[in-house]
Amino acid sequence: MSAVLNKSLMDIHPREIKGMVKDVPTLPVIYQELFQKMQDPNIAVPEIAELIAQDQSLSTKILHLVNSAFYGYSKQIKTISRAVVILGFRAVRSAALAISVFDYFGDEDSEGVNMLDFWKHSIAVASICKVLARELNINQQEEAFIVGLLHDVGKLVEKRYFAEDFLEVCTVAQEQHLSWYECEKALFQVHHATIGKAIFRAWNFPPSVVDAVQFHHNPTASTKVPQLTALVHVADVLSYSLDLGAPGAWPPKECDADALKLLGLDMERAAGFQEKIEEELEHAMEILKLLD
Ligand SMILES: [Fe+2]
Ligand SMILES: [Fe+2]
Repeated sequence: MSAVLNKSLMDIHPREIKGMVKDVPTLPVIYQELFQKMQDPNIAVPEIAELIAQDQSLSTKILHLVNSAFYGYSKQIKTISRAVVILGFRAVRSAALAISVFDYFGDEDSEGVNMLDFWKHSIAVASICKVLARELNINQQEEAFIVGLLHDVGKLVEKRYFAEDFLEVCTVAQEQHLSWYECEKALFQVHHATIGKAIFRAWNFPPSVVDAVQFHHNPTASTKVPQLTALVHVADVLSYSLDLGAPGAWPPKECDADALKLLGLDMERAAGFQEKIEEELEHAMEILKLLD
C-alpha cells in the first residue's frame, strides 16, 4: 500500500489527494470504457450494447434494473440494445454507474455506520433530486439522480482506507452535535466531497457528476453545473426531514440560501413535494436489491 494511504487523514494535505486516489483500485476497465463512450453524443447503440454484453454480470444487472418498478416500463426489456432504445443512453448510463459503484463498495461492513442506512440515504437524495428536477423543469433528471446517488461516496473511501479516521468522525460528530462535513472540517484538511471528486475524476466519470459531487456542501462554488449542485445540496438537506439523512452524524444546520434562490425554491415549497418524493422513493428503493 502506498505512503499516502498509510497516513491519517489528519496529515493529508488537499494537494495530496490526487496522488492518494492513484493507489485506490480503479473500477473495472469495462465501466471506464462505457462511461467514456457514453459521453460521445454520436455513439451508436450497437456499439454500447456490444460492450455491455462482454460482461455477463453487468448485462444481467442492467436488465434486472431496467425491468424493475424503478423505470416503470410495462413490457419486459430483454436486451441491452432494447433498453438503450427504449430508456435512452442516459438511463442506461445511470444504471451502469449505479451498478458499478454498488459492486465496488457493496460489501463494506457496518462498523461505525449502518451501511443499509448509508445506501438508503444515497437513494433518498437521488430520488429527491429527480423529483425536484422534474418539478422545477430542470432538464437534467438522470444526472440529478446519479449525482444524488453518488454524492457521499467519498465517505466510503474514508471508511475503507482511513478506517480509524472514519470512526473518529463518527465519535466526534456525535459528541459535538456536528454534521459529517462540519466534523471533517474541524478534524482534517480534506473532506468526503473533495475525496469523491478525486475518485470520480480518476474513474473518468462525467464532468458534471464530478463537479456537483465536489461542491455539494458548498454549492455556490460550483462553476460548471451550479444548478445541479444546488439541487443535490438541497436534496441532501431535505433527506433529513424525511428521516433518511446520512447515518453517523448530526443533520446539517441549514440549507444554503443561495442554492435555494438559484432553484427558485424555499423550504416550504420544497416540503410540498413530499408526496411525490415518497412515491419516487418507493420505486427507487428497488436499487437496494443490487446490493444482494
Ligand atoms: Fe455529503
Ligand atoms: Fe449526504
